[in-house]
Amino acid sequence: RLLIGGGVAGAGGLAALGADYASRRARASGTDESPSLNGEVRIPFYGAHQSGITVEPQAHATYVALNLKKGVAKKDLARMLKTITDDAARLTQGVPALADSEPELGTVPARMTVTFGFGPNLVARVAGDAALPEWLGSLPEFGIDQLEDRWCDGDLLLQFNADDPFTIAHAVRMLLKDTRSSADVRWVQRGFRRAQGSEKSGTTMRNLFGQVDGTVNPQPDDTDFKELVWNRDGWMTGGTSMVIRRIAMNLDKWDRLDRPGREQSVGRNLANGAPLTGVNEHDEPDFTALTPVGFPVIPEFSHMARARTPDRSQRIHRRAYNYDDAPEPGKISNSGLLFVSYQADATAQFVPIQQRLDELDLLNEWTTPIGSAVFAIPPGCDENGFIGDTLFD
Ligand code: HEM
Repeated sequence: RLLIGGGVAGAGGLAALGADYASRRARASGTDESPSLNGEVRIPFYGAHQSGITVEPQAHATYVALNLKKGVAKKDLARMLKTITDDAARLTQGVPALADSEPELGTVPARMTVTFGFGPNLVARVAGDAALPEWLGSLPEFGIDQLEDRWCDGDLLLQFNADDPFTIAHAVRMLLKDTRSSADVRWVQRGFRRAQGSEKSGTTMRNLFGQVDGTVNPQPDDTDFKELVWNRDGWMTGGTSMVIRRIAMNLDKWDRLDRPGREQSVGRNLANGAPLTGVNEHDEPDFTALTPVGFPVIPEFSHMARARTPDRSQRIHRRAYNYDDAPEPGKISNSGLLFVSYQADATAQFVPIQQRLDELDLLNEWTTPIGSAVFAIPPGCDENGFIGDTLFD
């Protein structure tokens, strides 16, 4: 039950804006007319799960991790989470936040979702160590890691996704104003995919190596998606674990690799992402097929062969974004992947895959993990609650 124009009630001129939002919203949700602009499309905020995990990935992502300030107590955190839940509920529907300083910027939802995650420190501060999921904390150390503190960990995660980066910029600003008294920004990571409308909806994304990335990935309508992704323990019931890894991709080194070498490093072709033993993207790979001289067509150390698990309960739901930031002096690129995965239990599902890739994966030659964090993504809430309320019960 969002108050239409609630964020601007009171002032005369702004009340007119409220009426404009009301008609926008009516148009956007009306049965007789579907939204004519991409910017009008809204994703419901309230529900059993937070929306930013299963929605078809939007074009842009901003992840903000915060550190809680010293002395911030449980009641302060409840107040902050209530406020930012309200901000997110409004802004995702194209309704300005309460006390929105630029209300006109809050009117283009563009499929925005805002998803909250908790680090171990926040969980322990609210409900004590007993409430900590066993998988919440730093991942084990991996040999391939060259982690930089500036991209790791955090107490509170705000994940913004939308098809319009302007929509995200405004939402980030609003929510950070409302977390300012309790938390400091620790890191911000921004990523992108193709813009909405550039490709047919449902096209698997490509990463900056040019690979089709995301082909084999449990989807929300798969029968086992619920078991793979939604947690069923206590306050986390209906939530999930999130792993975010910043993985640098050495584009200059990749440039020196020929096309067959590039395809073998993953086990799939570059044209359409088909396995090297197939024709179409979703063809089942044949790991037993041999070349005329007796080598496996899909190298056994290829990324696909190593990432694949025979234990179907160990799969993860990936939702990655590319990053392409300003290069360091003397370089011409600073690019990579914001690898993001959701799974009911990060230790049971993500860690075994990462361990196999750490041991051996041809792709490691061109990729280096430089950031890493795990967050507990609490379940969704209804209109009378707030994100994270189950932790406060
Ligand atoms: C598959 C790229 C990191 C797990 C793939 C595929 C590509 C790819 C091109 C094949 C298409 C597909 O099914 O998506 C990359 C790149 C990475 C990276 C460029 C780093 C920059 C990771 C990490 C993990 C991971 C860190 C998990 C620890 C998987 C899984 C699959 C996969 C589970 C599907 C394997 C299967 O066929 O069953 N990746 N990946 N990837 N990747 Fe990655």
